[in-house]
Amino acid sequence: QRIDHIRNFSIIAHIDHGKSTLADRLIQATGGLTDREMTGNAQVLDNMDIERERGITIKAQTVRLAWKGYELNLMDTPGHVDFAYEVSRSLAACEGALLVVDAAQGVEAQTLANVYQSIEHDHEIVPVINKIDLPAADPEGVRQEIEEIIGLDASEAVLASAKTGIGIEEILQAIVDKIPPPKGDAAAPLKAMLVDSWYDPYLGVVILVRVIDGTLKKGAQVKFMAAGTTHLVDRVGCFRPKIEQLSELGPGEIGFITAQIKEVAETRVGDTITDAKRPAAAALPGFKEVQPVVFCGLFPVDANDFEKLRDSLYKLRLNDASFSFETESSAALGFGFRCGFLGLLHLEIIQERLTREYDLDLITTAPSVVYRMHLTHSKNEDAKTIELHNPADMPDPNRIESIEEPWILATIYTPDEYLGGILKLCQDRRGIQKELTYVGSGSHARALLKYELPLNEVVFDFYDRLKSISKGYASFDYEQIGHREGDLVKMSILVNEEPVDALSMIVHRGTAEARGRGMCERLKELIPRHLFKIPIQAAIGGKVIARETISAMRKDVTAKCYGGDATRKRKLLEKQKKGKARMREYGNVSIPQEAFIAALRMG
Ligand code: GTP
Repeated sequence: QRIDHIRNFSIIAHIDHGKSTLADRLIQATGGLTDREMTGNAQVLDNMDIERERGITIKAQTVRLAWKGYELNLMDTPGHVDFAYEVSRSLAACEGALLVVDAAQGVEAQTLANVYQSIEHDHEIVPVINKIDLPAADPEGVRQEIEEIIGLDASEAVLASAKTGIGIEEILQAIVDKIPPPKGDAAAPLKAMLVDSWYDPYLGVVILVRVIDGTLKKGAQVKFMAAGTTHLVDRVGCFRPKIEQLSELGPGEIGFITAQIKEVAETRVGDTITDAKRPAAAALPGFKEVQPVVFCGLFPVDANDFEKLRDSLYKLRLNDASFSFETESSAALGFGFRCGFLGLLHLEIIQERLTREYDLDLITTAPSVVYRMHLTHSKNEDAKTIELHNPADMPDPNRIESIEEPWILATIYTPDEYLGGILKLCQDRRGIQKELTYVGSGSHARALLKYELPLNEVVFDFYDRLKSISKGYASFDYEQIGHREGDLVKMSILVNEEPVDALSMIVHRGTAEARGRGMCERLKELIPRHLFKIPIQAAIGGKVIARETISAMRKDVTAKCYGGDATRKRKLLEKQKKGKARMREYGNVSIPQEAFIAALRMG
């Protein structure tokens, strides 16, 4: 393939603006799939159940299209901030992007975040206004929005409907005309970027690569520069979207290799692949290890499921090296795992796969971010800095000199009418306003807000609140901007004077009281009465900041239960016995495990 006949591009869009539908259309129009294969409800690029159901793309995949003598590599990028590094790597593998905007919805927060990233990678951007078949479509208004808000020339934006097929040929033509071909030197030593990898039960680990210079051949010995490992390439190919094996990939091309690798953890996104015998002088810039930023405990509701949970976590990790886990035990919840994720969506996806694909009933503890604690020296130890993501491991408060927490820069895009509520929400969550811009007018008036927020306040139901305040209309995106010092404390929850480990959390002193009160009120509803009064308290250090009391049960309530015939009585006893097994004792208080689960599920 001549390099000037190659085009590498991705599609950027806000969720639901039609990225997957358009990708499928392009595949169909270029003959990659028959009409019959298309009519299956599966979207071709999203291959996991959950992705399909939620309509989000998790793992990047690439499809090679053949059109009028050109080789078009369409790279599907994950659209969510949790996978920001993967997005960035896939963008680095392309020279251009289709910017898909819904003709009825207009520009949204993720459109903006993604398009700026694309601009940073020097992409040529081809605007596509999709869904023009909708009665509510306003292509002219959206064209103006693209120009006003993003600052792109949209005069030649393609008007399209991925659903009905309008504009598909024009899009293909625009890709060829506007997006530049890749550059690369076929004679130079091999240099290829590891864009993505995943586990396939038949092929083992499949690696998606973009060749920069040189040629990647089947049978070659290659070196992964960051990992420092050497492998024999046993397959080279591309997806159309069906697998097609090739003998080699030349400069500028995107395709896959396999190299008898067993685990995804052995491959690192962003690594440079070179020839083992004739290596490139320098690796590609920008390689970085991804680190989990949100942690929580996962416990099986049924203690007998512990082994099953462990096996399932191992299996999931085969395909996702970015999440971590280690065993953890809790007095309240028994044995489980402390797990790390790239973000909240990542957490939800893993949790959902465990529940659905592995049929596990799980309890999730409140998510925590990674705190940096600066400790003074003690009798046995020097001063040092530690990273902490489990409130249970909080060091002695007397040794803590300062605590830093991660902050984010959030971009919120909302119809004007919900602005007041959203400003208040951000303010309540310790937000610092950085920008407030109005765009458009009349029924289409929107506000673009930028806030710096502590991630700690965002992992705690921020997204749900934002959605409910704006009736689902506000869109939200964020990037991490580093750690900052904060007045943070560990809040414990005590039931009958005893701390419940699974419920303790690290909070800002200013919001501790409200959070503590909320948790106490909730537990009061959830814990059944006993024959005596039970205090429920939230405390910082030794100081109680919120308190509720469960009043004692009156005797006649029990008397009533034990009337009736013998079988009913036996059933009741059976039930009680079962219930007992799942009770946890706090002092002399028995708390049904359901109460913890409910307390945690309510956030
Ligand atoms: P994510 O994967 O969640 O980012 O969404 P997406 O951008 O891939 O959107 P997707 O292709 O799943 O489309 C979202 C919805 O819009 C689906 O119900 C599509 O059927 C519908 N849709 C896509 N394109 C068009 C179009 O041109 N016209 C109409 N009327 N509906 C469309």
